[in-house]
Order: sequence, then structure tokens, then C-alpha cells
Amino acid sequence: MKHLVVLSGAGMSAESGIATFRDSGGMWEQYPIEDVATPEGFRRNPQLVLDFYNARRKAAFEAKPNGGHIGLAEMEKDFKVSIITQNVDDLHERAGSSNVLHLHGELSKVRSTADPSSIYTLTPDKPEIHIGDKCEKGSQLRPHIVWFGEAVPMIEKAIETVNTADILVIIGTSLNVYPAAGLLNYANPDTPVYLIDPKEVNAHRQGIHFIQKGASEGVEELRRSLK
Ligand code: APR
Repeated sequence: MKHLVVLSGAGMSAESGIATFRDSGGMWEQYPIEDVATPEGFRRNPQLVLDFYNARRKAAFEAKPNGGHIGLAEMEKDFKVSIITQNVDDLHERAGSSNVLHLHGELSKVRSTADPSSIYTLTPDKPEIHIGDKCEKGSQLRPHIVWFGEAVPMIEKAIETVNTADILVIIGTSLNVYPAAGLLNYANPDTPVYLIDPKEVNAHRQGIHFIQKGASEGVEELRRSLK
């Protein structure tokens, strides 16, 4: 089976009702990045940051996978599929994808501010954490999210995965944020690359098959092209 590697971003979940970050009306227009998505922001106003992620988490729990997520899960019949997502929702998993790597963390998880290996999973019936919610050893819990300025622990594994791709598919990412955006450079020069996005995205690589569509329609077209 050929190894199909997918790099997905916020546009993957747009049709599930989750706002992207940099489109007009996107998340970063409403909430300054430095306030809600940096370690300094968390030190300055932890409650604001917890509230921001509590709201994102509730929205993600309520969202449903769209045709794009489902189409990719179905492709496991014909390909070995590895998904590398910048998204912190779990819509790929809920659509049935079995191999998903989260580069920027996971909304459904929280961890100890003192011990990064102390990770807890939240559920839709208890989707929030607050100041005073602590790990077993008594340290405050924080979202299990990679903030700007923090290391991206899964990047090495992601590089290895892209390295072994027979086909690379990029969906719904503006390719603005590194190191994720640089993953494309680790694909073999002769690996075909497909890019699904309703807007033009500059991927800095020759010969990309551009499918200028939203995720659901785009994945359908990808499947037809690969038949
Ligand atoms: N289907 C596919 N793509 C879409 C759709 C759709 N229905 N709607 C919008 N898009 C595209 C946009 O055209 C844009 O290219 O999704 C992309 C979203 O880009 P960003 O908002 O920049 O999101 P992303 O690239 O995932 O951001 C990367 O930045 O803020 C951080 O940590 C956050 O993981 C995130 C990272």
C-alpha cells in the first residue's frame, strides 16, 4: 500500500464550524495571540487563557467531523494514511482516522504546569479547567497546547513521517507557522504533492497539484484523481 501523508490545518475543520485563525473573522482577529497563546500571556492572566481554551474545547466537543475528515478516514481502505495535524480538535479521530499526530497539542487534554508528562483527558460532561484545578502533586493544570514560543515535541516524528510519504496532501493551512510549514521540504523531491484550499497558498515548491476547493469537495476530488 502506498503511504499517503496528510498535513492538515484549521481549514480542515472550517466546514465543521470551527473558525480558522488568519481568515477574515478568524480567531486571531478577536483574540491577540500574545494574550491567549503564549507562556507570557498565561503568566500575566491565566484565567483569560483558561477561559479561551475552555470555550474552544466546548466548541470542539460540539462539532462534528465533515466530509473531508470522513473522506480521509475512508482512504485507509486503499492507502496507509498518516495524518499530521496542526489542529487541536479531535475531528480526524472521530471521523475514524487511526494514525493522527497532533503537532500543536490537543484541546481535550490538560497537563500539570510542573510536570509535562502528567496529562489528563477531559470529557464533554466536564469540559473546563479553572484556577485551582491541580494535578495529583498539587500544581496548577494548563491546556495541553503548544503555545507560540514553546518547543514542538512531535516535530521529529512528523519529519520522519513526511520523509516516507509516497504522496503528500496539504489541506487547509496558510503555511504561516513554523516548524509545521517547513515539513513540506522533507518530502522526497519526486513525491507528488496535492494542496487543497479554497484560497491560493504559496507552498514554495514546484509542480504542486492545486485543488482550489474546500476540504469536503477537495478530498472527493483528490480521491478521484488518485483512483
Ligand atoms: N477548506 C479548506 N481550507 C479552508 C477552508 C475550507 N473550507 N476554509 C478556509 N480554508 C483555508 C484558508 O484559506 C487558509 O489557507 O484554511 C487555511 C487556514 O489558515 P490559518 O487560519 O492560518 O490556520 P493554520 O494554517 O492551521 O494555522 C497554523 O497557527 O495560530 C496557530 O496554532 C495555530 O495550528 C495553528 C497554526
